[in-house]
Amino acid sequence: MKLFDVYPLNNITITRAKGSNVWDENGVQYLDMYGGHAVISIGHTHPHWVKRIEEQLEKIAFYSNSIIIPIQAQLAEKLGKVSGKENYQLFLCNSGAEANENALKLASFHNGKKKVVAFSKSFHGRTSLAVAATDNPSIVAPVNETDNIIFLPFNDEAALTACFEKHGDEISSVIIEGIQGVGGIILANTSFLQLIRTLCDKHNAVYIADSVQCGYGRSGQFFAHDYAGVNADIYSMAKGMGNGFPIGGILIAPHIKAKYGLLGTTFGGNHLACAAALAVLEVIEQDGLINHAKELGAYITEELKGIEGIQNVRGRGLMIGFDVPEDLKELKKTLLTEFKVFTGEAKPNVIRLLPSLALTKAHADEFLTALKGAVALLKAK
Ligand SMILES: Cc1ncc(COP(=O)(O)O)c(C=O)c1O
Repeated sequence: MKLFDVYPLNNITITRAKGSNVWDENGVQYLDMYGGHAVISIGHTHPHWVKRIEEQLEKIAFYSNSIIIPIQAQLAEKLGKVSGKENYQLFLCNSGAEANENALKLASFHNGKKKVVAFSKSFHGRTSLAVAATDNPSIVAPVNETDNIIFLPFNDEAALTACFEKHGDEISSVIIEGIQGVGGIILANTSFLQLIRTLCDKHNAVYIADSVQCGYGRSGQFFAHDYAGVNADIYSMAKGMGNGFPIGGILIAPHIKAKYGLLGTTFGGNHLACAAALAVLEVIEQDGLINHAKELGAYITEELKGIEGIQNVRGRGLMIGFDVPEDLKELKKTLLTEFKVFTGEAKPNVIRLLPSLALTKAHADEFLTALKGAVALLKAK
């Protein structure tokens, strides 16, 4: 049998990883400024994370959600503390798309309404409603098409206000990334998020903060949306939550009430996933990684601004993007092949940096040196 060929691959096989480094089958070392797609939060194979998973594996890995699983409550408590959303409720699932799917569905159960407001260049995942709310027609199958989604321009306050004036009675939820990832590292304006809060309150709609990529401390706050100083009703999470162990979840404000059977999943919240997620939060807390991400991110951003050739450096914490002009269009490839550095991208010309939150200053400097070298190499061609 062959694999279903949906991923354009780099011709590299990674066999070992530690912290912010990975090694290929020939022992060649790479610096991971991509964090395996924003997933590696505390560092590859972090010893505390490995130990917690191993210890849990010896006891019990999985049992269904029909019994008491105390480690779920421990995770909820720790997450409340680290995120500062102590009075929220936690529902656990397995991925980012599933988190958003549940968030959108729960919002609709809650207020009985059907329309969802989403924004240009958004990415919310590939399940039916999440993909319908994603601004990329090429990944929306005919069966996913629905007229329940209203797309508006990102950060356009007048358009949002006008939309609520017209459709306020029908709008169930507004879903927005605090920093658009796939869209190219675009920050939601503070005043825009505040307006979403105000309009949702006024029209009994649910504010959903998609924090799958920009959440979990990456931005230098637990949720990037926190920079606006207002709370969302639901936060969706995944990626960094398990440091590579698949787990997702939603944080749900206290006024949204649970009912037996409303949401459910077989694998969500299993013992092993919770052990991995607890290990991540323990390390984030003990090592002060959120503040570290903020400070190191500010340093990298400042240094990047001084590099001639790259443009529009932007981001928060360790979620950083910059534009690559035409003469440097091979930059990402050159960094990988010549300088052994993984970075992310956003089409057509953005390089995305999404390293582990435990990236060291030495690694940051190593990256900046490599980047300068790659730019110089390309300019000399
Ligand atoms: C903002 C955002 N939401 C949702 C998702 C979907 O997450 P997953 O791939 O875990 O389903 C992603 C994935 O890149 C994302 O960046």
